[in-house]
Amino acid sequence: MLLIYGSTGYTGRLIVAEALARGLRPVLAGRNAEAVQMQAQSLGLEWRAARIDDAVALDAALAGATVVLHCAGPFAHTWREMSDVCLRQRTHYLDITGEITVFEGLAARDAEARAAGIMLLPGAGFDVVPSDCLAAHLARRLPNAERLALAFRALGGASRGTLTTMVENLGAPGAVRRAGRIVAVPQAWRTRRIDFGDGKLRDATTIPWGDVSTAFYSTGIPNIEVYVSMRPVVRRAAIASRWLGPVLRSGIVRRLLVAWVRNRSPGPSETERERAASLLWGEAVAASGQRAEARLRGPSGYTLTARAAVHLAVRALEGDAPPGFQTPSRAYGPDVILEIPGVTRTDVPST
Ligand SMILES: NC(=O)c1ccc[n+]([C@@H]2O[C@H](COP(=O)([O-])OP(=O)(O)OC[C@H]3O[C@@H](n4cnc5c(N)ncnc54)[C@H](OP(=O)(O)O)[C@@H]3O)[C@@H](O)[C@H]2O)c1
Repeated sequence: MLLIYGSTGYTGRLIVAEALARGLRPVLAGRNAEAVQMQAQSLGLEWRAARIDDAVALDAALAGATVVLHCAGPFAHTWREMSDVCLRQRTHYLDITGEITVFEGLAARDAEARAAGIMLLPGAGFDVVPSDCLAAHLARRLPNAERLALAFRALGGASRGTLTTMVENLGAPGAVRRAGRIVAVPQAWRTRRIDFGDGKLRDATTIPWGDVSTAFYSTGIPNIEVYVSMRPVVRRAAIASRWLGPVLRSGIVRRLLVAWVRNRSPGPSETERERAASLLWGEAVAASGQRAEARLRGPSGYTLTARAAVHLAVRALEGDAPPGFQTPSRAYGPDVILEIPGVTRTDVPST
């Protein structure tokens, strides 16, 4: 049985719809009993309510579940409790985080997960399924690669949950991987021109996304940078945030930003999602200077999140869930992304 926790959120709802479209009958769960009940009853599904910090209620909510698809973020506040209960109940854990600290926290629970015979697979959404598969594909093409760069161009807007997670991380430094270790760098540390295959070279800037953590576990490549294509005004704001860290981290600024986020729509509309696309690019470089480059194109970030998360949850439900901490490509291979409808991959010929 699949249990979707955080099913009432913007992304949780898309994931529930995708699960139903694939013929699943998930059990819905979350902390707000009234909201979950209303959602479940409208869909004719079973539901359970439990706060994330109520271990007894969470144990009861997970009873009988084979797989939890955890959608309640920011995950920095929820991953530990949910992984605790999954370890106790021997339930496979998948989430849709993109937060480095969460990946690293779950990676540190690898031995516990192996002992319990369960899979811990964070990042089953837009970040990191396509980029992780792209990284593993490049490492397969260039096994002696020493440097990896990944870049995103996600079109179509962000959900309230994504913006809340971003607000929580405002004022924090950037991150890259150097010689196998995650190191802090200034926000918007580097910018490079990238050809995403959409007819124009675009400036993309480093961001501390999940792949700085996960691509290392998937490929062993010791030096990793992750870039996102952003408008110049956003880049300038990111650079300014280097000096505004204490201000951005102050309670009053956070509260103002959270209030601004709350007043926005829950996320991109169906039309916006249908119109949008996500473009990814990756490059692996060996010490000799040899390079491998590839691109991925897929549906909008939220559509891709729903399809990828449910696809990986189905694999786990079918019993294909290698125990321990996993990344998407480590568990299911670099080509699992090509099983998601609408995703294509292109190898860029060396020049
Ligand atoms: N990696 C990716 O590619 C990717 C893609 C999509 C989303 N995400 C992440 O997924 C998360 C959810 O996004 P969203 O768009 O669905 O946000 P959302 O619309 O704000 O929904 C958040 C959901 O999580 C629940 N929740 C939040 N904090 C909780 C807590 N402490 N305990 C229990 N439940 C909690 C909320 O419950 P209430 O209604 O009771 O508040 C709600 O059901 C965000 O962190 C976002 O960054 C990541």
